[in-house]
Amino acid sequence: MLKSKIDRATSFEKRFENIGTIVFENSAMASKEVANEIAALIKVKQSQKQPCILGLATGSTPKGLYAELVRLHKEEGLSFKNVVSFNLDEYYPMEPDSVNSYVRFMNELLFKQVDILPENIHIPDGQLSKEEIAEYCNKYEAKIEALGGIDLQVLGIGGNGHIGFNESGSLQNSKTRLVALDHITRVAASKDFSGLSNTPRTAITLGVKKIMEAKRVILMAWGEGKSNIIRESVEGEVTNQVPASFLQEHNNAVFVIDKAAASKLTRINTPWLVEKIAWTDKMVRKAVLGLALHLKKPILMLTDADYIENGMSDLLADSGPAYDININIFNKIQHTITGWPGGKPNADDSSRPERAKPAKKRVIIFSPHPDDDIISMGGTFKRLYEQGHEVHVAYQTTGDIAVSDDEALRFASFVCDFNDKFRIQSAEADKIHRKAIKFLEKKKNSEIDTPEVRNIKGLIRKGEARAASHFIGLPDEQIHFMELPFYNTGTIEKKPVGEEDIKLIMNLIEKIKPHQIYAAGDLADPHDTHKVCLDAIFESVKRLKSKTYMKECWVWLYRGAWQEWGIDEIEMAVPMSPDQVLEKRHGIFKHQSQKDGVVFQGSDSREFWQRAEDRNKETADLYDQLGLSHYAAMEAFVRWMY
Ligand code: F6R
Repeated sequence: MLKSKIDRATSFEKRFENIGTIVFENSAMASKEVANEIAALIKVKQSQKQPCILGLATGSTPKGLYAELVRLHKEEGLSFKNVVSFNLDEYYPMEPDSVNSYVRFMNELLFKQVDILPENIHIPDGQLSKEEIAEYCNKYEAKIEALGGIDLQVLGIGGNGHIGFNESGSLQNSKTRLVALDHITRVAASKDFSGLSNTPRTAITLGVKKIMEAKRVILMAWGEGKSNIIRESVEGEVTNQVPASFLQEHNNAVFVIDKAAASKLTRINTPWLVEKIAWTDKMVRKAVLGLALHLKKPILMLTDADYIENGMSDLLADSGPAYDININIFNKIQHTITGWPGGKPNADDSSRPERAKPAKKRVIIFSPHPDDDIISMGGTFKRLYEQGHEVHVAYQTTGDIAVSDDEALRFASFVCDFNDKFRIQSAEADKIHRKAIKFLEKKKNSEIDTPEVRNIKGLIRKGEARAASHFIGLPDEQIHFMELPFYNTGTIEKKPVGEEDIKLIMNLIEKIKPHQIYAAGDLADPHDTHKVCLDAIFESVKRLKSKTYMKECWVWLYRGAWQEWGIDEIEMAVPMSPDQVLEKRHGIFKHQSQKDGVVFQGSDSREFWQRAEDRNKETADLYDQLGLSHYAAMEAFVRWMY
């Protein structure tokens, strides 16, 4: 059993929660604990000479769990001979050896690496004819029943609260069946299928009823992206709109989540509503800004009554009256605003986000993909350059997989046409391009690009990034293309950060000796390229920490294309005028391969320049609502103290 001591929260703190929820520092620690519970169960069953019936899930969430189970098998002798597994679901239609099949997923990540007997593995069959499905599903359930039901069911959770592929609207007694996938589920899957149009519309899923009948259910969730749905499932009412909420009625279900996925739970998001807390500066800022936005009042208009009526009377008693708390927070927020992201020369910097000295700073902007710099901090980038700092930009990856085949075909054909036109005879170059064209013309869905095609796609993005940096004003020698090796797999799945990646980053820092580093601080998705890029920077900075020049180096984190820092977290907000917003838009336009229906559109149909503008305007609007100056847009940063 997962030991409750791991989660120090008391039952009083958890009183808003309707389901056992254990919060771990990170997904690796959580996965290990879940693996331990499964291993213990397998062993108990072995000692009783019983089969152990496991319900298994796929997706990104259980990957760490399966890796740990494989480790337990290889290093600690855990045997899976008595395990009988039933997978939750499979896309329909789906060939078992397709790159995206759950059969392949399970074989690669678990089954082929342990000693489970092939006849004990059950995964819904994606190759049946439509007519065969109903009977097949009945038999799938009958097999589970004949074995006495599922002993332990592993679950992930969809952004809409789905479990298995039981989408919103599924009934609590739903059976194993063919289902239509929600748009949001398909969008989440579309990155594996190279676009929405190739993503299956249907799947076979175990019904909610069999999941609810499992003797033990462990639902896992990682990352900030899951935090809203976790809160709804755990604290909201039981509703078929959020199928995971059904688990509130299960007598032995637990949610095992990491800190980021837990971040919206009441006990973590607004702990002062749960119990008496020690009011740190951070907490006061969060609570006061939350109160002002909730009541739609500027900070300076909050009254004693507002504090008392909203669970903050102890703060008022400690640090009140309201006027004092308000003015203190107002000033702090005011001091985050600066038009001088590199520091204002010859100005008193005691309450500014950046130091005045040295007046001319060396700056490295790390951009995970070739467009994150301009999308997320284009306004600040331009200001730093215009204010005379020596700005370097370092593109960490090639970003090749986000270029469409059409675009690559266009460029490859251009080169061939160019060579023909000017009678340039390079048999070798011509061969490369013709080979790429041939591949692209015949490319099947989900086929991995050849090295030639990947290079063409990478070069397209390189040209765009260079154009955007030139647009800002940077000379070529201040534009660095790092091509970190972890990224170069040709698939969405990336390697973890490696020594070589870290070395490349350390070398650049060492060479430039920056006073400021900007990095994409996307902590939300543990598998994303941004997170790996950030880990590589963090590790490099930690290793270089003792160098004298690093004592002068401040690290500022911007957020990626998808979201912004919480208003209470922002430590530097760089305002933009309407003209500067337009200028940034033109910079983003340099990334032509990322316009008009990109490969990785995500669930948001807006183009990147629109997302950036909306997000920067939202930040400015929040400052306005809080009673500070009204700007057209603002870019936000948080300082990383290392
Ligand atoms: C997978 C499954 C789904 C996933 C869910 C979360 O077998 O049934 O319910 O668990 O979509 O997916 P990830 O883990 O990729 O976020």
